[in-house]
Amino acid sequence: MLKGRDIISIRDFKKEEIEYILKKSEEMERLLKRERELDVLKGKILACLFFEPSTRTRLSFEAAMKRLGGETIGFSKTEATSIAKGESFVDTIKTVENYCDAIVIRHPREGSARLAAEVSDKPVINAGDGANQHPTQTLLDLYTIKREKGTLNLNIALLGDLKYARTIHSLAYALAMFKPRLYLVSPKELELPKEVLEEVECRCKVSVHRSLSEVIEEIDVLYVTRIQRERYPDEKEYEKVKGAYKITLETLKNAKEGLIILHPLPRVDEIDPSIDRTKHAKYFKQVFYGIPVRMAILTAIIE
Ligand code: CP
Repeated sequence: MLKGRDIISIRDFKKEEIEYILKKSEEMERLLKRERELDVLKGKILACLFFEPSTRTRLSFEAAMKRLGGETIGFSKTEATSIAKGESFVDTIKTVENYCDAIVIRHPREGSARLAAEVSDKPVINAGDGANQHPTQTLLDLYTIKREKGTLNLNIALLGDLKYARTIHSLAYALAMFKPRLYLVSPKELELPKEVLEEVECRCKVSVHRSLSEVIEEIDVLYVTRIQRERYPDEKEYEKVKGAYKITLETLKNAKEGLIILHPLPRVDEIDPSIDRTKHAKYFKQVFYGIPVRMAILTAIIE
C-alpha cells in the first residue's frame, strides 16, 4: 500500500493509510515481543541524516531498522561531512541516495524534507522540518492513544507551545480525521497557527482555552509540549512565555481516573517529575511505542 512512498506530511495520508500503519504497528509489537531480531529488511540500508539534535527519533529509527535485520548509516551533525566544505543540501541528498534504500531527514528549515523527496529516487521520511511537521511522531502518538485507550474518538487536550511545536501541527491534522473533541490550551502568544486551526475546525469540535483547569475534568488525553525555545526569532519573546504552564500533582486533582498524559519529549520543566510515578504518565511508554511504529513505517515503504 505504501511501498516507495515518501513520508513528508501527515496531510499526505488518507485515514485508511494511517489505520494501515497502526495495524501494522500492532503486528510489529507482537513480533518484537516474540523475537528480538527479524530479517524482514536484511540487506537494506537506512540513511539517517540529522541536521538538528535528536535523541528519540534518530535512535528509534536506527533501533527499528536493526530489529528488522537492516543496517544504518548517517550523521547527527554536519561538521564531519562535506557540508562543512560548502556542499549543498541537494547535492548531499543526491549523493546519499546512492548508498541506501531510504532516507530519514531532520532539518531546521521548513520544506527541507519535501525538497529532499523531490530530488531523491529513494523514499524520504521527514523526521521534523523546522516548526512544520513531524509525521512519524504523530503516527506513534496515535498508536499510543489507541493502545492505551482503545480508540481515538476521545476528549483530547493539546497543551503548550501550539504555535511552534511541529508535533502538535501534525497531530492536530491527524486527530481531526478521527473525530475527537479537541481542547487547545495555551497562552495567547502560543496559539495554534490560523491555517492549522481552520482546517482542524472543519473536521471536529474544537475549543480554545487559556488554562488547563477549565477542561481538566473532561479530558481523556492530555498531550503536553515544551516551549520550543530554538524556534523563537527573538529571545525576549521566549522570556515572555517561559514557564507559562506546568503540570503538577495539584493540577491533576480533578482529573479523570483514566486520564493519560503524553509528551513527545524532551521535557524541560512543563511536567513535574512527581507525575512520572502516577498512573496517568504514559510518555515513556510512548517512547517505547516509537519502535514498533517506526518498524511498521520502514517495512511499509522499503520491503
Ligand atoms: N520526540 C522527538 O522528536 O524527540 P527527539 O527530538 O529526541 O528526536
